[in-house]
Amino acid sequence: MPFRFHCLLVLLSLVIPAFAQDHAADAKIAFARAQHLQRGINTSHWFSQNAQDYSAHHTDTETTPDDILTIARLGFDNVRLSIDATPLEQAFHGWGDADFLPRLDKAVDEILATGMAVQIDLHPEESFKQQVRSSNDAVDRLVLLWRPLAARYAGRDPERVFFEIMNEPEVSDPYRWAGIQARVAAAIREVAPANTIIATGPNYSDIVDLLTQHPLPDGNVIYNFHFYDPHEFTHQGANWGASWWIYEHGIPYPPTEDSMAALVKQVPDLADRSKLENYWLDHWDAQRIRLLIDEAQGWAKTNHVPLICNEFGVYRQAAEPVSRLAWLHDVRSALEADGIGWAMWDYHEGFGVAVKDANGKSVVDPDTVKALGLKGK
Ligand code: GLC
Repeated sequence: MPFRFHCLLVLLSLVIPAFAQDHAADAKIAFARAQHLQRGINTSHWFSQNAQDYSAHHTDTETTPDDILTIARLGFDNVRLSIDATPLEQAFHGWGDADFLPRLDKAVDEILATGMAVQIDLHPEESFKQQVRSSNDAVDRLVLLWRPLAARYAGRDPERVFFEIMNEPEVSDPYRWAGIQARVAAAIREVAPANTIIATGPNYSDIVDLLTQHPLPDGNVIYNFHFYDPHEFTHQGANWGASWWIYEHGIPYPPTEDSMAALVKQVPDLADRSKLENYWLDHWDAQRIRLLIDEAQGWAKTNHVPLICNEFGVYRQAAEPVSRLAWLHDVRSALEADGIGWAMWDYHEGFGVAVKDANGKSVVDPDTVKALGLKGK
């Protein structure tokens, strides 16, 4: 064997086990920390999904310190704190609301002070995501945004502060998303050596999207998916997503055959109506949900990575409470049976565990608390 080749082999034998060792040690950290993300809630519309107003008035009143205490008291162990990209970018560039970042710090610290963990979820508006989908400059922007964001919170307890690369990327090409995700993860790692990163699949982070991905080279990563299947049920009455969901109301779960004939007529267009009809034909029930969630768990087991589901829920507007509670119970139970930590969407907006009364005060819904298996004091 030529001497040079021999030296190369010796070097590789030193480096590869060291890399493998670090990767395994990092994965162990990620698995341990996933235990802090077992029962979460999404604080939507607080620092995200409110593009017209991120003023102090909005962030001081949309979710209050009392709400955070209520969340902890109910038995949630973490909050997924969604943050819009635009006000963050503006703040890091020194324009927009000067106190946006201090207010965000306060929210993070209020959550941590209760003992709960926090998922820092970058939750951009549609237009930002559309740019990431097609423009490499927009990917640069995403990377440039994450460096100061991760650096800002890297100093907090890394056991309980998680960085989620991007909510529902809406990048349809799984290979493009894999490349973007790897680049952002590496940028986060430069400034936050100790924190656990949350990664996901392309599109809307469904299970089928997760299955297209290979784990990142970084071992300190938890993988995530969203579960809203079947959308005909969970998004009935919604004015976003498919145009015809807004016509649906009172769709039962599990569906009964005798309710189908009348209910499909809610949808005026025949092509859409056949999609709704499939909701009955597909026999949605706890067993079907369980088998789908098993697919995600199978992917995680094969790849030796920890897994969470940080969004699932039913839009309250047009759903029958009994059906909504049954679906929440079945999804939550299936996740727990597979040892997958969950976070319900959302705290007190359209899908809430709480609803707002006429004065805007949150009133916790004990039936939802029960469906989530929480004690709910
Ligand atoms: C996703 C969207 C959010 C929506 C939720 C339920 O998280 O980003 O806007 O409310 O799903 O549809």
